[in-house]
Amino acid sequence: MKAKITRRDFVRTSAAVGAVAGLSTNLYGLPQSKGTRPLVVSSSNGLRTNEKAMQMIRAGADTMDAVIAGVNIVEDDPKDMSVGYGGLPNEEGDVELDASVMHGPSKRAGAVASLRHIKNPSKVAKLVLERTDHVLLVGEGALRFALAHGLKKEDLLTEEARVVWLRWKETRSDRDAWGPGLDAPPDSQTTGLILDSDMKREELLALADRIIASPPTGTINCLAINERGDISGTTTTSGLAFKIPGRVGDSPLIGCGLFVDNEIGAAGSTGRGEECIKINGAHTVVEMMRKGMSPAEACMEAVKRVAANYNNDKKKLQRVGINFYALNKQGEHGAATLWGPSIGEDGRRRRSQYAAHDGRENKRIEIPYLFESLNER
Ligand code: GLY
Repeated sequence: MKAKITRRDFVRTSAAVGAVAGLSTNLYGLPQSKGTRPLVVSSSNGLRTNEKAMQMIRAGADTMDAVIAGVNIVEDDPKDMSVGYGGLPNEEGDVELDASVMHGPSKRAGAVASLRHIKNPSKVAKLVLERTDHVLLVGEGALRFALAHGLKKEDLLTEEARVVWLRWKETRSDRDAWGPGLDAPPDSQTTGLILDSDMKREELLALADRIIASPPTGTINCLAINERGDISGTTTTSGLAFKIPGRVGDSPLIGCGLFVDNEIGAAGSTGRGEECIKINGAHTVVEMMRKGMSPAEACMEAVKRVAANYNNDKKKLQRVGINFYALNKQGEHGAATLWGPSIGEDGRRRRSQYAAHDGRENKRIEIPYLFESLNER
């Protein structure tokens, strides 16, 4: 069945994107950035990433080295619970990481999936690209490969991530053996969980409950183009929280969570990887740019394909969150997301953003969306 977007949705989308700060709009009502090189574009958690990558590109570094050094900051940061060290674990409490990298000038790619114990999977993806004739290594083999190249084996599960996971495990069902029994004292559900965290118990439990209500697929994607027009990108993640061990998302799959064509541009994705895989998201975006779409239009086309897979049924799509990001050879950038602003449990309005550094300014930009959120109506 052909996907149908109502006129009402289109008008809402156009009106919403018209308000995106700092960008003019094109004929389709989607935001149009001015072309600038060098340029670095990341998901919203990438401001520090952009800063580092831009600084390195300005100093003459290769764009691939720059994007990887940029995302390493987030991989190393235990506070980002969707990437690298401190990432939320799988259903058995093991942190499994996915990452990919593409180098436009040499047309090469590398990736790792379900990698345990190595906090910088993007570095391992780069080693796969540089030191093997393969593109993707997974699981135990990826770990042995990383260790062979001198990377350090570490415990990636922070106290905070462990408590969030344990609470998820204990609150899933009252018909299994996890968690205090039915006749336990009322506060025993929350006591005895925390051993060593700077966060207050109540804060951590509130965070855990938010995460459990909607297990995140947060990720970081970073794309960069230098003055000469050479492009690289990387995507790195701990994947869907509490996933089945061995689940692989879109991030390490070339053409899904990341795609680079040095003649056209680059694209990446964050959010529910399964939906991105089903439409080969990043490759779709780059192909749309090849046909003449702007980065924002191409990203919106990918979002529409995700929605079309559910016949635009907003009830079913409610559980899907997905963003696409892109830059083109001219140094224009854009992004698109499925849902517009929503009201969080704290009553605050949340809106998807991405981060772009155009050499002068490094800032977050609101992302054009396809559908207005159901809880905003
Ligand atoms: N987009 C990240 C994941 O689904 O694993």
